[in-house]
Amino acid sequence: MKKYYIGADLGTSALKLLLVDGSGEILNKVSKSYPISFPKPGYSEQSPEDWWNAFVCGIHELLRKYDASCVKGIGVGGQMHGLVILDKNDEVIRPAILWNDGRTDKETDYLNNVIGKEKLLSYTGNIAFAGFTAPKILWVKENESENFAKISKIMLPKDYINYRLTGMHCTDYSDASGMLLLDCKNKRYSEEMLNICGINENMLPKLYESYEKVGNILPQIAEKLGLPENVTVVAGAGDNAAAAVGAGITNVGECNISLGTSGTVFMPCEEFSSAAEGAVHAFCHANGKYHLMSCILSAASCNKWFCQDILGTSDFAAEEKNITLDDLGNNHVYFLPYLMGERSPINDTDARGAFVGMRMDTSRKDMLLSVFEGVAFAIRENVDIAKEAGFDMKCDSLVTVCGGGAKSKIWCQILANVLRCTITPLAVEEGPGYGGALLSMVACGAYGSVSECTRDLVGYETGYTPKKEIVDRYEEKYQKFRKLYPALRDVYKEIK
Ligand code: XUL
Repeated sequence: MKKYYIGADLGTSALKLLLVDGSGEILNKVSKSYPISFPKPGYSEQSPEDWWNAFVCGIHELLRKYDASCVKGIGVGGQMHGLVILDKNDEVIRPAILWNDGRTDKETDYLNNVIGKEKLLSYTGNIAFAGFTAPKILWVKENESENFAKISKIMLPKDYINYRLTGMHCTDYSDASGMLLLDCKNKRYSEEMLNICGINENMLPKLYESYEKVGNILPQIAEKLGLPENVTVVAGAGDNAAAAVGAGITNVGECNISLGTSGTVFMPCEEFSSAAEGAVHAFCHANGKYHLMSCILSAASCNKWFCQDILGTSDFAAEEKNITLDDLGNNHVYFLPYLMGERSPINDTDARGAFVGMRMDTSRKDMLLSVFEGVAFAIRENVDIAKEAGFDMKCDSLVTVCGGGAKSKIWCQILANVLRCTITPLAVEEGPGYGGALLSMVACGAYGSVSECTRDLVGYETGYTPKKEIVDRYEEKYQKFRKLYPALRDVYKEIK
């Protein structure tokens, strides 16, 4: 009897669904996009109902030509940190406030400077960033007191899907880490943080390991989706932990770089450790252990913005085809990728994108190349901080790349030369959705552990290796890039 597993990636621009068989082969995939609204500069919201509708339509499309009775498990990886609040009738109270929303300046400042970073580090292992969930709860309390008073349940984006599927109010440790409510080391909610936010534990989802089963789909939902009733729903993971599982990144010294809407550097650890005074996030991993991570808010989204909104083309491959290896490190234009403000390492919601150094002979190719390079430099700054904090990334460490940006060969080459290490693409590059499917296999008992599952099912392509002369050119450019943000920091405050 065939066994199928469904992996879902609840992304910022779309929900991506995968139908995977027991050997890890992808049988079908479907993507359903939904709108994102920016009601004010720096605000970023989505409707949880849109996510659910995308899920329902997507599942029907995914299974159209397949025997749905073979589906055994569902695993969702989702955009992290988003605040979803439900009232006592399970109605969504207000649109979800997303991970890249920058409205919580005041609340973040209060947490870091009035409560104090030291206390936050001792309660949770992390400091506050504007995108995290706790500052958003404080924002709702301060600015929408009538909504705050209605809160009966708080959850993260992917937990909303699991809630609709199973009726279980649950989350997993990797995603819960990004709320700034979890004592990550001890894997329990921090009483101090709940008091600071004015909420109680009954409002929060029950905690599970990412590979644990949280329930079966409810009978009426099974009918609606055309699925059998006994389908197992696994707790799932934050999208970065899920992507790391999909990339087989579970061991110390390895690293997964995601070039999605955001850009992340994900480094597994055996033991919990806070790093660089909180500049790098110290979170739980989906394999039951821990990881360090840093996040830039705009990565592949910079390329999407530049090509689609500015150049007016969606033919990304044609746009980059004239960039050659000789161009790498010889570009005179610099780009700062702070289109949504920035999280790591500068933690500045007022920062904005910038092209610097343009001349009369600057071409669209130079500008596009600077977009790829600016993102790579921003990733490098985060890798450098993690290295200073003791992360052991060597030239021959396994460093994988995933997300929409990984489809660009030239971008992978730039990354290899800027980071000075081999960048390894995945045989199956489906990011968090693939990780979600693998987690559901573990929950269904097909594998004893996450590592066993990834060892058997995750494969790699030949890596992109750095070249000495390009590395040298980029080293010089990177040092110049690092001077740009400090020079603009005060200007950003004035022009906001
Ligand atoms: C990670 C983060 C982003 C989102 C994107 O901290 O905020 O990577 O998870 O979906």
